[in-house]
Amino acid sequence: MSIHPKRIAVLTGGGDCPGLNAVIRVVTLEALAAGIKVVGIEDGFEGLVEGRLRPLGLREVVGILDEGGTILGSSNRSDPSRYLVGHDGEGRPVYEDRVPQCLERLEAEGIDALVVIGGDGTMTCAQPFVEAGLKVVGVPKTIDNDIEGTEITFGFLTAVQIATEALDRVRTTADSHGRVLTVEVMGRNAGWIALYSGIAGAADQILIPELEYDIEAVADHVRRRVAERGSTVLCVAEGARPKGGQQVVKRIEATSPDPIRLGGVGNLVAHQVEELTGIESRSVVLGHLLRGGSPTAADRVLATNFGHHAIELLLAGESARMVARQNGDMTSVDMRLPAGKQRLVPLDHSLVRTARGVWTGFGDRVS
Ligand code: F6P
Repeated sequence: MSIHPKRIAVLTGGGDCPGLNAVIRVVTLEALAAGIKVVGIEDGFEGLVEGRLRPLGLREVVGILDEGGTILGSSNRSDPSRYLVGHDGEGRPVYEDRVPQCLERLEAEGIDALVVIGGDGTMTCAQPFVEAGLKVVGVPKTIDNDIEGTEITFGFLTAVQIATEALDRVRTTADSHGRVLTVEVMGRNAGWIALYSGIAGAADQILIPELEYDIEAVADHVRRRVAERGSTVLCVAEGARPKGGQQVVKRIEATSPDPIRLGGVGNLVAHQVEELTGIESRSVVLGHLLRGGSPTAADRVLATNFGHHAIELLLAGESARMVARQNGDMTSVDMRLPAGKQRLVPLDHSLVRTARGVWTGFGDRVS
């Protein structure tokens, strides 16, 4: 009996990220070349519950390598084992297990393998399908670069590129007006985007969630830099938090598996620095600009490499694996590995030392 799947379905879950279409493209092309039919599921697991499936062929995937977003759509509030079906009389959400319904649908469609492209939430949602005997392979994605088990995720380097360009641009205004400029970048509880773009964009200070900042130390560094060069630029991760304080929460998405949305700390830091130093300050929040648009060449390559390896795993009869990059090489890990974990910046990371080497402050020392 062949170990090859006969028909595979592909879905994208969680927030969009540059490179998703590159994965969909390579998975489709390689599966078709191996004689396997491909089906796209719309809007992540939500589309599977609701039966929104459509065939993917050459026509659907040609020309999408450089497109941002996902041609399949996505959803980050649709765990089929805890599917929101409505609200009770008191407005409380009512959930049902829709996994059996999804399994019946997959069987009826002749689908014997799934490629799920997403973050830790998507990998977790796929578990009941693994346990039911379906062949499932995960492809990790996030601009945050915080998925446990892989040293890089596609989308991250595109976000870093966009943030770097923004830092370069605000520098000219900071210099021309002798101002303090803060640039807030996404990343949830991880400071990878801030660290990389802060170094690439020559930020004078980088505030990351892994290292609590002291606003007095931040203000001290600002005074020094403004005295030396007339202006200063800070790169602030949305998850940055003051010593002994809290992160700034922008909103709560009650039905999301990861309900907290961060945002606003860049503005807060700019305001406090202006009060402490008397130097005029402005803030810019990059937000979803970091997730939108075309992936960089490096991300197109990485996403294509990840998708290729996903098909290699399925053709080798593997299941329950998440594609990963470790020590610069392609590999795979148990799909359950990332669940409930975040890959944060270690404080002894070489890039933290590198940043300090070029006199970048982290807001952690009052001089
Ligand atoms: O995980 C990716 C990410 O862009 C985070 O950096 C950010 O905190 C979050 O998603 C924003 O989510 P949403 O698109 O739901 O506002």
